Amino acid sequence: MAKSKSVFVCQECGYESLKWLGKCPNCNTWNSMVEEVKEEKISTKQSVILNNEPRSIVSIKSGEYERLDTGISELNRVLGGGIVKGSLTLISGAPGIGKSTLLLQAANNIAGRYGKVLYVSGEESEEQIKMRGDRLNVLSKDLYVISETNMDKIKEHITNTNPVFVIIDSIQTLFKQSMTSAPGSVSQVRQNSNDIMSIGKTQNIPFFIVAHITKQGELAGPRVLEHMVDTVLSFEGERTQEFRILRTIKNRFGNTSEIGVFEMSQEGLKQILNPSAVFLEEAGFQKEGSIVIGVIEGTRPILVEIQALVTETKAVMPRRTAVGVDNLRLNLILAVLEKKLRVYFYNCDVYVNVVGGLNIEGTFGDLGLALALLSSVKSKAISLERLIVVGEIGLTGEVRPVTFCDRLVNEAEKMGFKNAIIPYRNKDRIKNKNIDVISVSSLVEAINKVF
Ligand code: TYD
Ligand code: MG
Repeated sequence: MAKSKSVFVCQECGYESLKWLGKCPNCNTWNSMVEEVKEEKISTKQSVILNNEPRSIVSIKSGEYERLDTGISELNRVLGGGIVKGSLTLISGAPGIGKSTLLLQAANNIAGRYGKVLYVSGEESEEQIKMRGDRLNVLSKDLYVISETNMDKIKEHITNTNPVFVIIDSIQTLFKQSMTSAPGSVSQVRQNSNDIMSIGKTQNIPFFIVAHITKQGELAGPRVLEHMVDTVLSFEGERTQEFRILRTIKNRFGNTSEIGVFEMSQEGLKQILNPSAVFLEEAGFQKEGSIVIGVIEGTRPILVEIQALVTETKAVMPRRTAVGVDNLRLNLILAVLEKKLRVYFYNCDVYVNVVGGLNIEGTFGDLGLALALLSSVKSKAISLERLIVVGEIGLTGEVRPVTFCDRLVNEAEKMGFKNAIIPYRNKDRIKNKNIDVISVSSLVEAINKVF
């Protein structure tokens, strides 16, 4: 029998210690160390390496991976063109965001195209899944479902069913009987993921694993999971809004930072192939505090409306509330506005919102955000009609270039925009005829053009 001893494992990052600690020295989380029995014989069988002889790089065939088409092009896109055979994908998201719905729809499409798909649910009974299936109208005869949480039984089911694709919903519900720790604990998650990985790699079956996230947006349980899998997708959105965004966090087989956009409906998730059109559907132009900006998400240009509201307050600590924009970025822009333009916000609450639930990353939206804030402070709308604004703001108030500015201007032209404000250093590559392009090298210059 395997010798076992007890260790304390951080439930956030997987750090192990022989004695209990109040604070994890690795990730600095408080009260995260939980006693677990350490099995000496944890399988360390990692991914299967096929070639173990060094070869010259020129003699290696460039790997065009064999992929499964999920029948959902927005999902294929974030995966880099479909599900790579034998790959392990983690999909994380808050409860109720739509993970099970999306995966059931994908599972059904794959079953219809390629053969048996096994959907293992540790959260819902087979009848509940069937009810969902009825509602989504996904009832391929090759879609097999099982409600099971015991890893050893799941292994048997996989062997008996011999599927082309397996979904595990969710990793936190699985347990291995030989281990004493509770489902969802670091050692269970790690061991079960290891088992799944070795089945996937040896039998060349791709797996999708659902993982819950904590309130803070972290992957619940161990970070280690992220390192083990090939692809990490995150499913995001406001529960009260109908848009859902699927984002690539890591991808060994494609681009990261790619996104897929969906809309929730009674019949399940509908993909949105032209996000700009939807995000701008209700955008009024030349409204006080509102600006349309352009961002590149993965390979795709997307236009969204950003709104700012600045109101006077007597509070000692004025509010800075940003939805869809990084708070640090907002603070930086406010600081530049105060220092360079002498527009003061210390006695103001500031609210910023990106319409449609997109989280803007990068610096594409800096200049637009600054103009939206000024528009609200001044209670004055922008003077240019159908305007898109792109540009990063530097600490000295200069407007810095952004990557793929030409693609954003093309997208704006396609969407019927009349004016674009872009960084001066991006202007050489812009050749558009149906949109007036104004290039600026500083914040002050941009302000003079729009107010
Ligand atoms: P669900 O897929 O169960 O979320 P998760 O697996 O991430 O916890 O979806 C939550 C609920 O929302 C569920 O009752 C079904 C409903 N729903 C729709 O009605 N339409 C949709 O398009 C989606 C995504 C969900
Ligand atoms: Mg679910």
